[in-house]
Amino acid sequence: MIILGIETSCDETAAAVVENGMRVFSSEVLSQVKLHEPYGGVVPEIASRSHVECLPDVVDRAIKESGCGWGDIDRIAVTSGPGLASSLLVGIAYAKGLSMSLRRPLCGINHIRAHVYSAFLGEDTPGISDVGPFIALVVSGGHTSLIKFCSPCEYRVLGETIDDAAGEAFDKGAKLLGLGYPGGPAIDRISRDGDPGMVNFPRGRQQKADFCGGLDPELCFSFSGLKTSLLYYLKDCSSEVIPRKIASVAASYQEAIIDAIVQRCEKAVLGVNTLVVAGGVSLNSRLRESLGELCKRRHVKLLLPASEYCTDNAAMIAGACWMDPGVVEVDGGVLDAEPGRSFSG
Ligand code: KG4
Ligand code: ZN
Repeated sequence: MIILGIETSCDETAAAVVENGMRVFSSEVLSQVKLHEPYGGVVPEIASRSHVECLPDVVDRAIKESGCGWGDIDRIAVTSGPGLASSLLVGIAYAKGLSMSLRRPLCGINHIRAHVYSAFLGEDTPGISDVGPFIALVVSGGHTSLIKFCSPCEYRVLGETIDDAAGEAFDKGAKLLGLGYPGGPAIDRISRDGDPGMVNFPRGRQQKADFCGGLDPELCFSFSGLKTSLLYYLKDCSSEVIPRKIASVAASYQEAIIDAIVQRCEKAVLGVNTLVVAGGVSLNSRLRESLGELCKRRHVKLLLPASEYCTDNAAMIAGACWMDPGVVEVDGGVLDAEPGRSFSG
């Protein structure tokens, strides 16, 4: 089955053509980073307007690049949530139009679950049913979740962030440090020249059960206190000292985020033999190194998506449409945006 995937949930306009959840014929991603950079974060109105302007071309390019004709497309998959409402609506409206004109079924895809499936894209990766029970860590700009997959159709969310997502912690930290947007890659780069032990930032203690909504408090995350302690640290430093120390402050801040993630993964992987890590933050070099060490120690296989599928893309949306047993074909007329859609929703 050949699926056309469309992704417009945040600040990437993307389209891809994927066969049977494995063979990626094309994957086009247009990043809006330059548009949002002057504002230090994503501006929803700018994001949705740019999706309106760019999506038709991005989809055309994905079709051309794939070598398929419009008639070869069997299904259309579009992100229906979570994400920015006004951005989701652009992709959904376009997908509905295509579904009607091509007379092909339409599916609304869960963006967070699609990040997990991104690790199984490609012909050289194992299939999702070949890996047995696994833990998935989704770390992106909007989400930080630990999920246990007992089988492709049976999963349970073990822990989530109770405030900021890991990527948000990187982005807000980078803003405070004057490193620009997006913050994750900037902190990752500068930290390579710094001493991660220079400042002992808080590691996000175990959460109170009351805040965790029935999830395991030891597997929930909190990053807002870390951001505040960076703010106070910077306020206490004289302006002359900071430029010299910035690499070490960034490295220490990054280390606190990584430590909090790795500690929770260490507990979560007990009893499984694979850890899947996906989402934009999975590109972080220090996180990859630390999780690599953890998996070696625990004799667990670490499965990461190819780098082009870590950040938002549409190949994962088309892939999820094939791999996710929860996906159903809908009548184009009824598909709606679900900005607050949860992992299990
Ligand atoms: O998955 P993604 O493209 O979008 C969401 O679904 O949110 O993730 C974007 C996030 C941003 O917060 C960005 O700063 C972070 O991923 N990111 C990184 C790195 N590359 C991207 N964070 C840490 N280190 C990186 N190398
Ligand atoms: Zn994402």
